[in-house]
Amino acid sequence: MSAPRFMRAVRITGHGGPEVLESAEVAVPAPRAGEVLVQVGAVALNNTDLWTREGAYGRPGDPKALSGWRGPIDFPRIQGADVAGRVVAVGTGVEGSLVGRRVVVDPAIYDTDGPDANPVGLMGSERDGGYAEYVTAPVERVHDVTESPLTDDQLAALPTAYGTALGMIERGQLRKGETALVSGASGGVGLALVQIARARGARVLAISSGTKIDAVREAGAHEVIDRAGDVAEQIRTAAPEGIDVALDVVAGELVGEGLPLLCEGGRWVIAGALGGYDVTFDVRRLYLHNAQVVGSSMHTPTHFDLLMDLARRAEVQPVVAATFPLDQAAQAQEELARREHVGKIVMHP
Ligand SMILES: NC(=O)c1ccc[n+]([C@@H]2O[C@H](COP(=O)([O-])OP(=O)(O)OC[C@H]3O[C@@H](n4cnc5c(N)ncnc54)[C@H](OP(=O)(O)O)[C@@H]3O)[C@@H](O)[C@H]2O)c1
Repeated sequence: MSAPRFMRAVRITGHGGPEVLESAEVAVPAPRAGEVLVQVGAVALNNTDLWTREGAYGRPGDPKALSGWRGPIDFPRIQGADVAGRVVAVGTGVEGSLVGRRVVVDPAIYDTDGPDANPVGLMGSERDGGYAEYVTAPVERVHDVTESPLTDDQLAALPTAYGTALGMIERGQLRKGETALVSGASGGVGLALVQIARARGARVLAISSGTKIDAVREAGAHEVIDRAGDVAEQIRTAAPEGIDVALDVVAGELVGEGLPLLCEGGRWVIAGALGGYDVTFDVRRLYLHNAQVVGSSMHTPTHFDLLMDLARRAEVQPVVAATFPLDQAAQAQEELARREHVGKIVMHP
């Protein structure tokens, strides 16, 4: 197996609207020592693609600054964190037997080598990603899933959304029999939260809206709360005994409204701010009840190993909402931004 010298790739040339996405013919990257070259079978989109393109992350002390999630982006940058594909070449020091294996790439760049390392960078942001025919990755970030019954599209749906969901569930220590509240439940992370929390044996209350409510129920939610109505009242009715763990990608007003609904020792895990990042809550509801607010960014290597075990056994079934060819990356991102879909949007190079 070998790779050609050039490939199609879609990269961002600066922060801005879909117009900064540029389709280009670029050199196929050569795997360096300790790396592999993966032929991309499918690449899934994430909100971070939009935020990185727009530069919407702000900086400490300057929330409106144009920035990637960890700081300045080195343009031009090939986007795309979520890749499933096949290894076609290896760098020095990497076993040649990996060539031909079907893999999922862990997109995280970690701060240390340990199993509980924190992600401090992301493929598609701090290194080139999978909006391309080929991508390189360190061998330790490449997971062999050749035997998984899941399709490449489903596998590509896993790393960021399901990795983030598993990270939230692990950091929130959700246990069998507990009640979990999931916000943004029709989204990529939200549906993953519903599926994994359900698979863990939790009782799942999900917040969604409109026509997406049925799909969220089908994904495994025991009760769906309509965010067009009085959310706190609906949660109180659905879980009069309280929420053990909130798995929240919306934040905003939901945090202030929802914290008083936690059980004693409850955990409110936040991984997104679709509803607003400026949050106000009554701290008495926190300390008087030994509750915790937990920030959660992506996953650790240990969480990703757990996720790949789920993938090999097909214990989660990612929902693919739509597929696009790579040269329609701008349309695919616009579809994601419309938020009318349920599940993941996937592109094929
Ligand atoms: N911390 C991390 O590591 C990490 C990783 C991945 C993603 N994220 C963040 O997590 C969030 C969700 O990502 P995603 O990819 O799952 O998004 P997504 O696929 O776009 O889905 C988000 C869902 O949230 C709901 N929603 C949208 N706007 C809302 C609002 N203003 N108020 C309440 N609900 C709203 C919508 O569902 P309904 O209409 O059905 O309610 C939507 O389907 C984003 O903020 C993303 O940046 C964080």
